[in-house]
Amino acid sequence: MKTFKNALLAAAATCAVLASPVLAKQAATTVAIDAAQPGPVIDRNVFGQFAEHLGTGIYGGVWVGKDSPIPNVRGIRSDVVAALKAIKVPNVRWPGGCFADEYHWRDGIGPAEKRRVQINSNWGGVPESNAFGTHEFMDFAEQIGADPYVSVNIGSGTAAEAAQWIEYMTAEKDTTLAQERAANGHPAPWKVPLLGLGNENWGCGGAMSAGHYVEEMKRFANFTRNYNPAQRDGEARMKRLAVGWDSDKLDYTEEVAKAWKDHVYSWDIDGISLHKYTTGGWPPHLPGSGFGTEDYAASIADTLTMDTLITKQSAVMDKYDPAKKLMIAVDEWGAWLAPTPGSNPGFLQQQNSLRDGILAALNINIFARHADRVKVANIAQMINVLQAMILTDGGKMVLTPTYHVFRMYVPFQDATFLPVRFTAGELMLAGKTLPQVDAMAARDKAGQVWVALVNVDPDAGTSVTLPGYRSAAGEVLTAPRVDSINTFAAPDAVKPAPIAGKAGGAGVTIALPPRAVAVVKVSN
Ligand code: AHR
Repeated sequence: MKTFKNALLAAAATCAVLASPVLAKQAATTVAIDAAQPGPVIDRNVFGQFAEHLGTGIYGGVWVGKDSPIPNVRGIRSDVVAALKAIKVPNVRWPGGCFADEYHWRDGIGPAEKRRVQINSNWGGVPESNAFGTHEFMDFAEQIGADPYVSVNIGSGTAAEAAQWIEYMTAEKDTTLAQERAANGHPAPWKVPLLGLGNENWGCGGAMSAGHYVEEMKRFANFTRNYNPAQRDGEARMKRLAVGWDSDKLDYTEEVAKAWKDHVYSWDIDGISLHKYTTGGWPPHLPGSGFGTEDYAASIADTLTMDTLITKQSAVMDKYDPAKKLMIAVDEWGAWLAPTPGSNPGFLQQQNSLRDGILAALNINIFARHADRVKVANIAQMINVLQAMILTDGGKMVLTPTYHVFRMYVPFQDATFLPVRFTAGELMLAGKTLPQVDAMAARDKAGQVWVALVNVDPDAGTSVTLPGYRSAAGEVLTAPRVDSINTFAAPDAVKPAPIAGKAGGAGVTIALPPRAVAVVKVSN
């Protein structure tokens, strides 16, 4: 309870979300939307995805090769592209993760048969063919309509190598690297809107001290120049993101923010990352399916600490950046569970249940409450790895409950946060005290108000009244159990259904089923 109370206080401080916990479960909740006090824009980039060279996330999940019997466009599977287009993925972070700090871009360009085959030392020790390189990634991003978020190799690469990679991607035709790109099939420069300066360099990215990382990061920020004329200045310019939050320590965030405050003209950054996985304790052990109340409660409680972490990181950044010019990029988040029995543990393959959909909604609601600081987030990872949108097996594909939540939340992309006042209720579950209900609201660019509601209670429904509104209609995601999953044999066991409220004297009232996420459009 302490954590949740703190989280709510912190949220109230940043975005005026006023949820007052009561000391019992409640049969009814009132969610009052303060449409007259709009907050910041919920940047569409918080709905970003992460696709690392890991297990079957890329090979099999995205890339099947041009000669595959699986329908594809230039080697990229068409079923996956169609599904991802429907959730309007704003950006994809690539090539890692830990893989990024061992990635050398030249290994992934040119004729496929000449590319270097290496060992993916971080993830299962399997051969990495480099068949999916820069051109294939950019093609994939274009096919799904997403922006590239490219992470450069600080751990084992050089600043020159990173600088030349950005030049290769973004320079016009008058440089040798631009001509090489054209000879490899892409004469026009690409846009690189987001650039990651390393990844977890306190761990797999080279085990650097915070001070050492800052010196390296400054050189990489200085020399990674984007030459695309369309990205010269303004909002379109490339944003550089440095590494922050180290699990339980804030020394990276502190050192990076301090250096930025006094930065000289030759380098700059736009944000600092934060990585937080829902594990319920390390090493990851919570099962992906077939779990009980205790595991469910542990994963909800752990997820809610995201709010505390963002609040702590923000507080450190506030010391050096009170105007909040730097963003937080939560560029790795999601449930990291026990591997699917029988799978290669290095492939981080796991099932995805209704519980994961609920966790996704709770996390996104937290990002929305911190919309003044959190402007990028990337769920780990897009396909077949950790809390995936999509699972594939050969030519088969299944959409996960998390995918459905991302599709339901599309109206919140670039919508304006609206404060909500509600009593969360108190749910006692397996010795843990959890909020029973969560709520978030925003107004889209067309002026339409949307509300997201989460009923954490695995057993009981609740009724939610929205005062001042006469209609509420949208979709609800629920299933017979919190551990219900979609499988290749039963792909629609967990899928959204229509939901609508009933108008009454007090406003519009929605009967929210147990264990549910709902997104509704409201009007008066
Ligand atoms: O997402 C899996 C791994 O988790 C990433 O490669 C790394 O950055 C993090 O530790």
